[in-house]
Amino acid sequence: MAPSACPKLKSIDLNFYYGTYKALHGISIEIHERKVTAFIGPSGCGKSTFLRTMNRMNEALRNTRVEGQLLLDGEDIFPMEVSGLRRRVGMVFQRPNPFPKSIYDNVAYGPRVNGSVRRGDMDAKVEQSLRGAALWDEVKDKLHKSAFDLSGGQQQRLCIARALAVDPEVLLLDEPCSALDPIATSKIEELLFELKKICTIVIVTHNMQQAARVADYTGFFLLGKLIEFADTKVIFKNPTKKETEDYITGRFG
Ligand SMILES: Nc1ncnc2c1ncn2[C@@H]1O[C@H](COP(=O)(O)OP(=O)(O)O)[C@@H](O)[C@H]1O
Ligand SMILES: [Mg+2]
Repeated sequence: MAPSACPKLKSIDLNFYYGTYKALHGISIEIHERKVTAFIGPSGCGKSTFLRTMNRMNEALRNTRVEGQLLLDGEDIFPMEVSGLRRRVGMVFQRPNPFPKSIYDNVAYGPRVNGSVRRGDMDAKVEQSLRGAALWDEVKDKLHKSAFDLSGGQQQRLCIARALAVDPEVLLLDEPCSALDPIATSKIEELLFELKKICTIVIVTHNMQQAARVADYTGFFLLGKLIEFADTKVIFKNPTKKETEDYITGRFG
């Protein structure tokens, strides 16, 4: 299927500063709708910074500054109301961070805050979200138990279910498997193939094999710059830039 004509997200010459430190240099990229896009690159190259810019999480930090444009469906996100933006662009972090509540209440949290689901429809919404995160069968008999009783991998899928419960258009995942064992990791990877049917996925991973397995498109970052962005197969088999080739072949210093 050809990428949609209008990208889901588009950044134009985006710069980001922590104080005087410039962490992102002129990032221009188009994120295709209902595809998985991965960002790879060595630690400290700006992957998380760029991901967090996409739902304006960086703004919570003082003394930061962003320049350039970031468009969601063609509309600049910076003048938007933040809560509305975050409803549309959800995020899952490196370490599972469920609330100290029941499994059910974790998933119902967003719809309750937003008032987006009627009371009588909440059970169905919780079930749908847990099914979406491939967790329903494992938790359906203990919905009112604490989220902390779950394994790490289950907690991370619960965080995905919590994000899905507000019907996001985009899901940002920052190294979502880095705290998980290989079996839990492969469950999340399989899940991404299902999730991209309903939303656009952007995943940061330090694991190149993971990017090669799950992503339709891959961007390689180095020192705050997007060096190359292309079809995943091109990045891993036939990159254009020497820096990309050095990195994916492990020659990177
Ligand atoms: N809160 C922060 N304050 C100051 N500098 C930061 C902050 N977060 C990240 N940085 C710096 O910005 C650069 C990019 O970091 P980051 O986006 O976390 O990289 P990555 O996710 O690729 O490892 C690094 O040099 C890092 O030290
Ligand atoms: Mg990071």
